[in-house]
Formats: sequence, C-alpha cells, structure tokens
Amino acid sequence: MSKDAFTLTSPDGKSTTLPVRKGTLGPDVVDIGQLYKEQGVFTYDPGFVATGSCKSDITFIDGDEGVLLYRGYPVEQLAAHSSFIEVAYLLLYGQLPTKAQLDAFDTSIRTHTMLNEGMLRFFNGFRYDAHPMAMLSAVVGSMSAYYHDTLDINDPGTHDIFTHRILAKLPTIAAAAHKLTSGQPFVYPRNDLNYTQNLLHMFFAVPAEPYQINEIAAQALDLLFILHADHEQNCSTSTVRMAGSSGANPYSAIAAGIAALWGPAHGGANEAVLRMLEEIGDTKNIPKFVARAKDKSDSFRLMGFGHRVYKNFDPRAKIIREMCHKVLAQMGRRTDTPMFDLALALEEVALKDDYFIEKNLYPNVDFYSGIIYKALGIPTSMFTVMFAIGRTVGWVAHWREMITDPNLRISRPRQLYTGPKNRDYVQLNKR
Ligand code: CMC
Repeated sequence: MSKDAFTLTSPDGKSTTLPVRKGTLGPDVVDIGQLYKEQGVFTYDPGFVATGSCKSDITFIDGDEGVLLYRGYPVEQLAAHSSFIEVAYLLLYGQLPTKAQLDAFDTSIRTHTMLNEGMLRFFNGFRYDAHPMAMLSAVVGSMSAYYHDTLDINDPGTHDIFTHRILAKLPTIAAAAHKLTSGQPFVYPRNDLNYTQNLLHMFFAVPAEPYQINEIAAQALDLLFILHADHEQNCSTSTVRMAGSSGANPYSAIAAGIAALWGPAHGGANEAVLRMLEEIGDTKNIPKFVARAKDKSDSFRLMGFGHRVYKNFDPRAKIIREMCHKVLAQMGRRTDTPMFDLALALEEVALKDDYFIEKNLYPNVDFYSGIIYKALGIPTSMFTVMFAIGRTVGWVAHWREMITDPNLRISRPRQLYTGPKNRDYVQLNKR
C-alpha cells in the first residue's frame, strides 16, 4: 500500500489497486469506482458511515475537533461578524461579497418575496391543524407548477433566478403556514425590511394594530440561520443531491430535502427537544429520563444529543447556548427561563454520565435552538420550519455544485440482496 493507493486482495489472490483521493482538509478517501468491475463485489455501508458520496468545495467539518468551516471560514467568525444574507452569498458563490455584490444580492432577495396569489390559495386546502412541515414541503414542491421559467436545469442562466426566488419566498411560505395554523390573516412581505425583520413582520403583524420589530429577535434569528445554513452531506442535503441527480427540477429536489429534514433524528429534533423538556418538567426528573435514554429496551433518546460526525461539542450548540442567555435576558420572557435552566441542568448531568462520555454524546445544534424560538413566540411545530429556512441556502448551494459538475451521474447505490432466491409462480388455487 502506498499513500496514493490501496491494494485490495480478494481471498482467491486477485489484487486491485484503488486510488486514494486527497482533499484540501480531512481524511483521504479511497476511490472504489472500479471495484465491482475488477473484483465483482460491492461495498456495504448502511447509513454511509464510511462513505463519501461526492466531492464538494462548500463546507468542511472536523467532528473530532468540533470544527465547522463554510468555504474555509470558521462558523464562529461568521456568527460574530457576518449576516445570514452575506453567508448565503458566500455559500452560493464561494467568496465573501464586495459591498456592491452584497447590496445587489440583498436587493434581489428583497424583491422576490411575494408568492404567486394562486399559490396562496393552496393554504385554504390544508386542514387548520396540518403540520407546517407538511405544508412547507407541499408548497415548495408546487413552486415547479408556477415558475416554469426556471425548470430547465441545463440552462445555467436560470440557476440564479431559482436561487433568489426560493431563498426569498421560503419565509413567505413559512409565514403563510403559521398564519393558517393561528387562524390569522396572511400578511404580505415588506421589501423595505431585511430578511429576518421581514420574517418576523409576516409572522407576527396583524391588520388591527401596528407591529414593532424586535431587533434582538431579528438578530437571534439571523444568527440561527447562519448556524443552520449548511452542514455538508447531511441527510436532507444528500436527499436534495440524490433527487436532483436524476435531473428533477430544483423545486422538487428542495421539497425532497424538506421532507427528509422533518424526521426527529435530523431537523425534527428541535421540536422533539422542546417536547422532551416539557415532559421532563422539573430538574428532579432528569435522572429518570437519563436512565431511560441509556436503557436499550427503551426507544427513548435524549433529543438534541449525539451526532454522526461530531464526537466533540457541536460548535453551533455552544454559540446558540450563549445566544439563549442574551435572548432570555433581553426579551424579558421570564417564563422561558425555567426551560433554559432545565436544559442546562440536563446537559450538565449528561456530560458527566459515563454512558454519554463513552459514546461521545454532546449537545447538538438542536438542543438549545428551540428555547430561542420559544422565547420569540414561535410555536413548537414551526421549529423545524425555521431550520428549513436557514438550510435552504445550503441545499441550493449543493444542488448548484452538483448540477454544474461535468462528471454528474445519477445517484444509484447497490444493495446486499437477502430476499428469496429464484422461485416459480404458484397459481392462486394451488397456494
Ligand atoms: N441518547 C441516547 N443514546 C444515544 C443518543 C441519544 N441522543 N444518540 C446516540 N446514542 C447511542 C446509541 O444508542 C448508540 O449506542 P450503541 O453503540 O450502544 O448502540 C450510540 O450512541 C451511537 O448512536 P447511533 O444512533 O448509532 O449514531 P448515529 O450516528 O447513527 O446517529 C443521531 C446520530 C444524531 C441520529 C443520534 O445521536 C440521535 O438519534 N440523536 C438524537 C436526535 C437528535 O438530536 N438529532 C439531531 C442531530 S443534529 C442536527 C441534524 O442533523 O439535523
């Protein structure tokens, strides 16, 4: 074995040389593309624990060190100095924008916020108690029925229009879902407001009285969107890539990503954390729930704990925990403080527990985000929608990277078949 290649020898002595590919950061990868052709075997890796599915220039994670870089910039620096719109530009176009580029991008996003009126009528068809993630994936999927001019994926000229549209309209769709659920009239976007101010306006303004934007709330949302913006080949992003690899239109690919995000092992965890904290209710109940999380015969897990890649503190969780202090202090929502105190106490117990230490289970991005959303007055069922608004730019950046890759091939994994061997059909009267 050299550093540039692996040699794999089968039990009957046939050797195959597998090239090693090197990235700019992170472990090398063994390219197994020729393995089946040469050895007649597939690899088997359920859950893609040790498999890289693509090359990407967008985001880097070092899970052992707790490092997250967007286009090379540490997420901590972006969280401290940047804005969501600037980070969106960075993820999409690869560089931090100049002032003129940022202004032009921001203006374009602000002027694509309205929905086709026909799409708004969709919301009348949903039951009042529909989960907002169901509405979000359905309405985003239906954008392909309204914006035909961006369906030709082979025309790169359409990629920017699609990108700006979907980023701009996600908050409008989310707000429409929220207004339906709360029985209030839909509020149209205001293009004089920035991304998060406009989102708060559409969520909380009512026709009966003027609405004052809370700047701390807008800043907290902006920070959460930066932290959620991308996370390399996670489940929903891989879903977007997989759906998009068939040549499906980009709205459908993003709708598939939204559906994948909804699950409690992924973005749905933020909603599950709040429900879990409500169920725990009091610090005196923490040991009981920690014991349940460790019990293999109980399906309960500590939601907001653990990560496939991070075997150290999730850097995003640290930043969000700090923001929780600020939001709770400045929003004056004293009623949410006990929930935060409970979360801090649960974290303390889990981090000292042998089970969690041995398995490297730390709080992840979803552990504290719901406490902020709750303090801002966002209902629990909307938490994963908030995640989706932030992550859309990551999905789009990956879709764009994939679709312009000259080596793009349809994603088509193989399998280890364990079903019945060949057998003959038996007539109904003979079974
Ligand atoms: N509580 C209790 N035990 C856990 C937990 C947890 N939250 N997470 C993992 N474990 C145990 C698990 O039982 C397993 O034990 P063993 O080796 O004895 O079988 C071991 O740790 C490894 O877990 P795994 O399920 O094999 O790890 P994974 O990489 O497949 O799953 C995960 C990662 C995030 C799905 C999982 O940690 C989990 O279910 N966490 C709770 C849900 C959650 O917070 N999800 C949000 C993830 S971050 C944001 C995002 O991706 O959207």
